[in-house]
Amino acid sequence: MADEQAQQGNGGGVATARDSLTVTDNRTGETYDVEVAEGTVKAMDFRQIKVAEDDFGLMTFDPAFTNTASCRSAITFIDGEAGVLEHRGYPIEQLCEKSTYLEVAYLLVYGELPTQAQLDTWIYQITHHTYVHENIKKFVEGFRYDAHPMGMLLATMGALSTFYPAAKNIENDMERHMAAVRSIAKVPTLAAFAYRHNLGLPYVYPDNDLSYPGNFLSMMFKMTEVKYEPDPRLERALDVLWILHADHEQNCSTSAVRSVGSSQVDPYSALAAGVAALFGPLHGGANEQVLRMLDRIGSVENVPDFLEGVKNRKERLMGFGHRVYKNYDPRARIIKEHVDQVFEVTGKNPKLDIATELEKRALDDDFFAERKLYPNVDFYSGLIYEALNLPTEMFTVMFAIPRTSGWIAQWLEMVQDEETKIARPRQIYTGHRERDYPPIDGREELVDPPVDEKVARKLASP
Ligand code: CMC
Repeated sequence: MADEQAQQGNGGGVATARDSLTVTDNRTGETYDVEVAEGTVKAMDFRQIKVAEDDFGLMTFDPAFTNTASCRSAITFIDGEAGVLEHRGYPIEQLCEKSTYLEVAYLLVYGELPTQAQLDTWIYQITHHTYVHENIKKFVEGFRYDAHPMGMLLATMGALSTFYPAAKNIENDMERHMAAVRSIAKVPTLAAFAYRHNLGLPYVYPDNDLSYPGNFLSMMFKMTEVKYEPDPRLERALDVLWILHADHEQNCSTSAVRSVGSSQVDPYSALAAGVAALFGPLHGGANEQVLRMLDRIGSVENVPDFLEGVKNRKERLMGFGHRVYKNYDPRARIIKEHVDQVFEVTGKNPKLDIATELEKRALDDDFFAERKLYPNVDFYSGLIYEALNLPTEMFTVMFAIPRTSGWIAQWLEMVQDEETKIARPRQIYTGHRERDYPPIDGREELVDPPVDEKVARKLASP
């Protein structure tokens, strides 16, 4: 049981002499003792296992990190089997009920919930760093009118490193703090500018009188009114959605931030790597894909046929399944509760019926039960974003805004961790070895020509 707990990452216990693994290498008959601590063995301990003196030693192979802990972290705890998510030990349900997104961001970054005075200072600092340099605005103007807003966010996030060059002094705690404040403060501005650019609308500057989500709604939707007044129900729903998306331990984008950050590059460049990873359809892009999928299904009557397609592997049920959760994603449950509150303001999104039918049928179906496929956070979030009149391209941006606090918290933890080294995986080499370089007229043509040749042929044909 102790080991089981340790595998869940809750600290385990201090290793004792009994906490070891005895491994017999059947190639040589040699036996080795490998320490087991915190439910893990160190991959480097296997390097001593060799068939000969000059052998490199045994490596572990885990291309998608499915069973490899890449770091120690005290930020987010997930028990995927039980459907539990906690930040710094506080259950996500309590944070969503009692906290605000900015308070949770503070918790992620600094490790404890703030006192009232600390929270006031934090909110003041975030609110007073929401403006971006005017040249960022010009930079956004340079994109095509139909540029994907995630592509724009990726570029503008990275570009912040050129406006705050001192951020590269990552050993300086004040610079690290300012990077946390600036990135969390400015990401809604960058996101809203990208949105307004797509619409050809003038950019709206931040309004310091409004809350963090209220200001975002203002930068997105303000038109000719002197002052934008956000609907408090939408403000709260957005705040809860952002709490739910703030951090999720070592997911693809967070690993990207840590991996790129381990080279000791400035934090904005590392965050840009996070935005890039989040852009992918299997990660943050999934909420966009969910809406496209619901559009394609079209009506409740078509749900059974669609699910048949999924089972025949012609389709993938987007918004279902998770690498870690093998139970209902607790975030999906909370979002579902907020869907109705949003629809109270915006009117019901007709696709909700299709989504509800899909969920009901999938949960009753052995194919999904056997594979432990349940709705994930993205299944319902897209419906809310669409009800807010956001184009699907903006959905992943809506994920990137709150995930910035998780990324920066993880980056801060990583750069201050004495165990951090530059991320540098090994490989199993599968290519040729020690070939003699042939002259150009002595080379054989490939049976299947490489893509560049195919393209060249296509361009040459009339
Ligand atoms: N629809 C249909 N079948 C699925 C799905 C799905 N959404 N997800 C997994 N499976 C099947 C998969 O085909 C495999 O079946 P089999 O064993 O017969 O080959 C089995 O379930 C195990 O799947 P896997 O691909 O090994 O699981 P994974 O851990 O590698 O992938 C995942 C996790 C999230 C990439 C995957 O479930 C997926 O593609 N889901 C849809 C995309 C999605 O909703 N992504 C958002 C994730 S939550 C937001 C975030 O944190 O980024």
